Amino acid sequence: MTAGPAAVPPFAVIPGTQVQEVLRGREKELVELVEATYRLHGAGDSVNPRSYFLRFPDRPSARIIALPASIGGEVRVDGLKWISSFPENIAAGIPRASAVLILNDHDTGYPFACLESSVISATRTAASAAAAADWLTRSRPRPVRIGFVGAGLIARYVHTFLSGTGWAFDETGVHDLSAASAAGFAGYLDRAGTGGRITVHDSAEAAIRGSDLVVFATVAGTPHVHDPSWFGHSPVVLHVSLRDLAPEILLGAVNVVDDVEHCLTAQTSAHLAEQLSGSRAFVTGTLDDVMAGRVGVPPDRTVVFSPFGLGVLDLAVGKFVHDEVVRRHELQVVDGFFSELRRHG
Ligand SMILES: NC(=O)c1ccc[n+]([C@@H]2O[C@H](COP(=O)([O-])OP(=O)(O)OC[C@H]3O[C@@H](n4cnc5c(N)ncnc54)[C@H](O)[C@@H]3O)[C@@H](O)[C@H]2O)c1
Repeated sequence: MTAGPAAVPPFAVIPGTQVQEVLRGREKELVELVEATYRLHGAGDSVNPRSYFLRFPDRPSARIIALPASIGGEVRVDGLKWISSFPENIAAGIPRASAVLILNDHDTGYPFACLESSVISATRTAASAAAAADWLTRSRPRPVRIGFVGAGLIARYVHTFLSGTGWAFDETGVHDLSAASAAGFAGYLDRAGTGGRITVHDSAEAAIRGSDLVVFATVAGTPHVHDPSWFGHSPVVLHVSLRDLAPEILLGAVNVVDDVEHCLTAQTSAHLAEQLSGSRAFVTGTLDDVMAGRVGVPPDRTVVFSPFGLGVLDLAVGKFVHDEVVRRHELQVVDGFFSELRRHG
């Protein structure tokens, strides 16, 4: 193989405006992409080491997470998502999370794109939630009452992906510790033309009891929902924020995760359930297991989906965006980004 300039791919920057233009209105396609990525990951055609959490003694609520990953199949790309969570941003009027995604060329290792990635991250998270809502309710009457606990950006994206993949609800419940967030999300639901009744609940209990499909998208660091009787009606729970439910609730439910090794870390509720029970037997399987029919989902039990969030999903969505921007001849290449390309000058 000849080394040198011809082998080095151009380096491009893809801003959030381009990312949003590409992704808008393509919910069905993106849910299928996420499902295909779960299948590839389940089949072992990926490398997805544990996320690294960078934390700061002087800013205990903040963190920046590194998610390196590699995916095979037709996507065939390596890369890294680097995503910050600064919950105090909300008080300053800006989103909590910000992120970039670096894509690396399969053959040379060269980074070839840096993408704005808070939108990609929210998109893959919401697409994964919509996939889970679909697959985990196939054995029961389709839910018509949804409740959101935590009403920020992720809740909005999950709602957009459910609507965009054909869901409609008679009742939409909203609960948030912040009245302003609950009102803001209810306003979004109204503007989005959500049919049915929209109710802002002043307790998580009311939102849970009033819903057959419950979405947790809070920033809770430790469990705040402890009473199993709130789940007496056996809802399907999309536990996107991972740390809301007391481990006892998971131990009494059917548990589906995206990846067992990942999900049982970082003090998630699933991790706490493993510590409390001393085993992983409470995990029924992965969403890939459900999609492949390897595990069944009983219609009459509470089902909790805990998606840790896999870097391979960010890669798949990021490569989809990159390829679409290339197809539209809109790639913004940074000329001369890699400038030292001859070993001996
Ligand atoms: N699993 C994944 O792959 C994945 C991916 C992306 C984000 N997330 C998680 O989703 C969550 C939401 O992210 P976001 O960007 O929407 O955050 P956000 O800050 O925009 O919104 C979170 C909302 O939760 C509310 N809240 C906090 N504690 C609460 C509680 N105990 N009860 C009710 N409401 C509460 C806050 O007031 C806020 O309005 C975060 O925890 C984030 O880590 C998970």
